[in-house]
Amino acid sequence: MNVLGIETSCDETGVAIYNSEKHEIIAQALYSQVELHAEYGGVVPELASRDHIRKTALLTEQVLRQANLNQKDISAVAFTQGPGLIGALLVGSTFARSLAYSWGCPAVAVHHMEGHLLAPMLEDEKPDFPFVALLVSGGHSMLVDVKAFGDYEILGESIDDAAGEAFDKTAKLMDLGYPGGPRLARLAEQGRPGVYKFPRPMTDRPGLEFSFSGLKTFAANTLHKCDKSEQALADIAYAFQEAVVDTLMIKCRRALEQTGRKQLVIAGGVSANIKLREQLAELMTKLGGKVFYPRPEFCTDNGAMIAYAGYQRFSRGDSESLAIEARPRWPMDELNAS
Ligand code: KG4
Ligand code: ZN
Repeated sequence: MNVLGIETSCDETGVAIYNSEKHEIIAQALYSQVELHAEYGGVVPELASRDHIRKTALLTEQVLRQANLNQKDISAVAFTQGPGLIGALLVGSTFARSLAYSWGCPAVAVHHMEGHLLAPMLEDEKPDFPFVALLVSGGHSMLVDVKAFGDYEILGESIDDAAGEAFDKTAKLMDLGYPGGPRLARLAEQGRPGVYKFPRPMTDRPGLEFSFSGLKTFAANTLHKCDKSEQALADIAYAFQEAVVDTLMIKCRRALEQTGRKQLVIAGGVSANIKLREQLAELMTKLGGKVFYPRPEFCTDNGAMIAYAGYQRFSRGDSESLAIEARPRWPMDELNAS
């Protein structure tokens, strides 16, 4: 069966087709709105919605052509129902439901974070349930005990900024532009270890909650006191990234100890961070376990993860009425296995 997936929750329009017999994404297209938002230094929700309107149908035609399929070959249309920007979500939701209606097939609502969580299943090396997942994106940071498909217990979340948000805000302070996360990570490669030492927030007490907003303030103060040279900026980027990665590592280790799981999945935009991937791989080797992550293009928002999660939901009997609905806030532990 072929499932079409449509992602429009933030600033990327992603469309893809998952084929269940091949267990493969057979076509995909992604349009990033980065240039549109760059001059504002962040995502402008209304502009995002309007751009999704311009791109969603075009990308859908493109993936059908790429896969050499037509509407009859599509068994279901999956779309991101939430969480995300309400206007952007409504574009995907309205488009997907209308398409499903006109094609005479079901529409399937997908939780964006479940999409991220399942993305590593598209790789050759994939985890088996149960496992611990570290989900780190621009809007969320959480540790989840994934007992089975749809059975998610949130072990800890960020009480303020998400990890990606902290990267983006710190990058903005350093005038690195938007989107800041990957740029800050690139600058950190030129940084020297040991020049600055940032705190590891909330690691000195038990629990699996995160807090990243203090790191941004620490970066602002450090920046204020330094000589603003290229090297100093790189050293700050290095220390900031090291602190985020270290903090995530400490919490992952705790979550694995607490649950007794031996497999760790990392997903969401920040899981594209090379330092984080390396350090977590090292940690898991030390602990006699294994780490799994999506290929870099499936770490950040994309249609493939929505097509795959949509297939999983649809094959368990999920489908939507044609009423248009979007959920800008949607706790993931409300999901069940259907
Ligand atoms: O999952 P995603 O594409 O969108 C959301 O669902 O939020 O994540 C985007 C976030 C942004 O905050 C971006 O700066 C961050 O992921 N990000 C990175 C890297 N690549 C993307 N952060 C650190 N290092 C990276 N290489
Ligand atoms: Zn995302």
